[in-house]
Amino acid sequence: MNETALITGASSGIGLEIARLFAASGKDLLLVARNSERLEDIRKDFEAKYKIRVSVLPLDLSLKESCDRIVSYIEKEKLQIVYLVNNAGFGDFGPFVERNYDKLDNMIALNISALSRLTHVIVGQMLKQGKGRILNVASIAALQPVPQMAVYAATKAYVLSFSQALSYELRKQKLSVTALLPGPTDTAFFERGEGLNSRMRSFSMSPQSVAKTAYRAMLKGRRRVTAGYRNKFLALLSKLFPVNSLLLSISNSIAEEDKNGL
Ligand SMILES: NC(=O)c1ccc[n+]([C@@H]2O[C@H](COP(=O)([O-])OP(=O)(O)OC[C@H]3O[C@@H](n4cnc5c(N)ncnc54)[C@H](OP(=O)(O)O)[C@@H]3O)[C@@H](O)[C@H]2O)c1
Repeated sequence: MNETALITGASSGIGLEIARLFAASGKDLLLVARNSERLEDIRKDFEAKYKIRVSVLPLDLSLKESCDRIVSYIEKEKLQIVYLVNNAGFGDFGPFVERNYDKLDNMIALNISALSRLTHVIVGQMLKQGKGRILNVASIAALQPVPQMAVYAATKAYVLSFSQALSYELRKQKLSVTALLPGPTDTAFFERGEGLNSRMRSFSMSPQSVAKTAYRAMLKGRRRVTAGYRNKFLALLSKLFPVNSLLLSISNSIAEEDKNGL
């Protein structure tokens, strides 16, 4: 049985580039996202280029039943999931009270609930196999509260905290859990997250570069990795300074300036 990498949010951006790295290394893939046409194109492209088996599941992961559909598929096809990449996620920008709550609720369902549920079932299988590596995509927004992105930053703080705790719980079973902290990355994230534009995007990294950092860290079994020197510097600052009104006001004004396209 060939080793398979299960990657969520693999139809574009960081997830697609991580999938490409696994494909180039000869691993089979199980790719999940909603856009079935894009997944089908990726399947054909990767199977032709890399001579691997690529399965695609077009699913909305914010729905609880999607996780059961993934598990049934894995059992039916007898796939051995050795790598799990929980990458699917989206952001939203603006004052909390002005945002559409259903959208925020959907974000919590995807960024937190789907990631946790999928990890729960797949870790069970990895423990039986005696091997497995997990990569959870958080964000540098996980490192401090971010006014104007209050819910998004909180979902990513969950991902970071959860991943590090789980990595410690699983250390004796030889399963690794890596939290990836990207900063602004040039992907569709900016179009999907209304208002997230201009300034943040102007100093973004390429998804290829973020994917390489993530892939290497996952294979090394690192507990946490921040993509890029600028983001590493920001991560260091967040360690040095406590959360106080000044810090909140700085992150709020960066977000406000971004909104105004300055
Ligand atoms: N770009 C950044 O600046 C940045 C910074 C820090 C962290 N991140 C994180 O990086 C991860 C990947 O984002 P990205 O930047 O690569 O953006 P992206 O290109 O928009 O990718 C998001 C992926 O998630 C999938 N997705 C979204 N909603 C879904 C749902 N309900 N069910 C299943 N799949 C869903 C999308 O595919 P479909 O539309 O086909 O479903 C797409 O494949 C996210 O977790 C994001 O929070 C991004």
